[in-house]
Amino acid sequence: MKLGVVDFLDERLDVRRIAREFAEHRVPDHVNWLYCFGGITFLCFMVQIATGILLAFYYQPTTASAYTSVLHISDDLPFGVILRSLHAWTANIMIIMVMVHMLRVFFHGAYRPPRELNWVTGVLLFFMTVTFGFSGYLLPMNQLSYWATKVGSEIAGAMPFVGQYIQNFLLGGAKISDATLTRFYAIHVVILPVVLSAFLAAHFYMIRKQGIADPL
Ligand code: HEM
Repeated sequence: MKLGVVDFLDERLDVRRIAREFAEHRVPDHVNWLYCFGGITFLCFMVQIATGILLAFYYQPTTASAYTSVLHISDDLPFGVILRSLHAWTANIMIIMVMVHMLRVFFHGAYRPPRELNWVTGVLLFFMTVTFGFSGYLLPMNQLSYWATKVGSEIAGAMPFVGQYIQNFLLGGAKISDATLTRFYAIHVVILPVVLSAFLAAHFYMIRKQGIADPL
């Protein structure tokens, strides 16, 4: 007798019940298109992970070779320019979508009890999304990257008391160098993806536990 893959997995991992739990979850009647922006933000994040992994195969995080490596991706690799454009455009779209999502949650009053913790998790997700953008901006190491990072780090440096410490920490020294690029790369491809994924898991768990808020 031929045993299907699903039957095989179901016998061992109970996958049908898990799939049913996801698929048969009822969405409240008041949910409309305004509720899709969180999902679109998540979709953007998935695109960023997929395109980012492909870019990491070719990108070289040193001041001497970062710029030439991104040119190589755009000019020499098949679909390279599409890959880079997808990553850059989706980054911008993700930031816009997370802001629209935040506004939707705010104007629906969905931050009220018992969802305060999810709102706070969301605020952290928002800052992480913006930091993703900022850390990614330096990576091509072109003029725009250099000056944006200089301005950004100087803004951090202007903070009272802790500013200089934060600026030094960000740059890995007094000015933009290889150490800065290494730090931004580590933040962009390791720290943020891991931390943002963990916070997203908490965000989704709370949405599932608390359900979607009733209209005001
Ligand atoms: C990476 C960023 C984020 C992703 C992927 C995400 C994803 C989602 C998804 C899929 C939902 C289900 C309903 C909907 O889409 O409207 C949701 C709900 C929610 N999100 Fe987010 N979110 C993110 C950031 C934020 C931010 C920045 C905030 C607020 C500061 C926030 C606060 C909330 C709250 C309070 C809910 C519950 C809404 C309700 O019950 O109506 N989220 N999120």
